[in-house]
Amino acid sequence: MDPVPTFPQLAAQNLTSDLDVTQAELVSLLDLAAEVKRAPGSFRSSLRGRIVSLLFEKPSLRTRITFEVASKQLGGDAILNTGPIGGREPVADVARNLERWTDLIVARTFSQKTVDDLALYARVPVVNALSDLYHPCQIFADMQTLQEHWGGWKGHKLAFVGDGNNVANSLMLDGARLGLSVTCVTPPGYEPLPDILAQARAFAAETGAVISVANDPAEGLAGAEAVYTDVWASMGFEHEAAERARAFAAYQVNSDLMALAAPGALFMHCLPAHREEEVTSEVIESPISVVFDQAENRLHAQKALLLMLLDGPAK
Ligand code: CP
Ligand code: NVA
Repeated sequence: MDPVPTFPQLAAQNLTSDLDVTQAELVSLLDLAAEVKRAPGSFRSSLRGRIVSLLFEKPSLRTRITFEVASKQLGGDAILNTGPIGGREPVADVARNLERWTDLIVARTFSQKTVDDLALYARVPVVNALSDLYHPCQIFADMQTLQEHWGGWKGHKLAFVGDGNNVANSLMLDGARLGLSVTCVTPPGYEPLPDILAQARAFAAETGAVISVANDPAEGLAGAEAVYTDVWASMGFEHEAAERARAFAAYQVNSDLMALAAPGALFMHCLPAHREEEVTSEVIESPISVVFDQAENRLHAQKALLLMLLDGPAK
C-alpha cells in the first residue's frame, strides 16, 4: 500500500464561510491543492473509509460532482441527499443523524443560517457548498487558477462585474487575504453587504490589497488583470430575473467591456453561465477565458479541503 502523506489540519472544525480559514491556512490549502493536482495518485488512500454526506437544497453540477469524485479518489465515498434541509425535521436533528453515519457534511443551502445550524449541532465537520452569503469552495478553485496563470496573487487586480452576491463576497474575503485587489463593479443597489465589505477591507489592510466598489464599469475595470462575472439572478432570486436583466444590461461582459480592463486580462466565471446575458459567447469562448480551468480546480481544491478537515483514513 502507498504511504499516506500527511497534511496540515484546519484549526476550525468547519468551513461555514471563508472566515473559518485563516490567511496562513488559505495559503496551505492552495499549496496542497496544487500538490494534489500534480500527484493525485499519492492521495488515493488518504481518506480510506471516510464517508461524506452531500446535502443540496439547490441544483448543482460542479460542486456536487467534484465533491463526490474527490471523496472517491481520496479512498472514501459520498452519499447525496437533495431537497430542503430541515423540512421534515429540525436542522439540528438532521445534523445529529448524519454525524452518526458519516464523517463530514457538505451542504448547499438557501440560508446561511442552515449551514451555521448544521455546524452548531453536528460533531463532524460541515462545509458550505454555497449559501446566500458565501461560496468559499468556488473561490479556493479560482485562487488556484489565478496562481497557475500569474504565479501568485499579490499586487494583482481582479474586477468582479455584476451582482454583489455570494461569489463576490467570498472573492473579496479570500482575495484580500492573498494580497489580490478586488473591485466589485455593480449597478446601484446591488453592491456587496457593508459588513462583508468592511471585513474584506480589514483583511486587505494587512496585505496591501485594495477592496473597492464602483458603479461605473470604466472606473472599476481600469487596470484589472482578470474580469469575473456570475449570473444576474442567483438561485433563489429567479423571480427577480426581469428586473435584474434591466438593471444589469450595461454590465454585460462583452468585448467592449473587456477592452476597459488591462491588456491580456483573463475572463472568469464560476458557471453555469447564461450566454448573451451576463457574458457574450464571444468572450466566454475566447482564449482569454479560464472558466474550465476554474471548474477543473474545484476538484483539486476540494480534495485539499477534505484532507485538511479529516485527519486521515477511518480508524
Ligand atoms: N460554480 C458552481 O458552484 O457550480 P454548480 O452550481 O454547478 O455547483
Ligand atoms: N451566485 C450564483 C452562483 C452559482 C454557482 C448562485 O448563487 O446561484
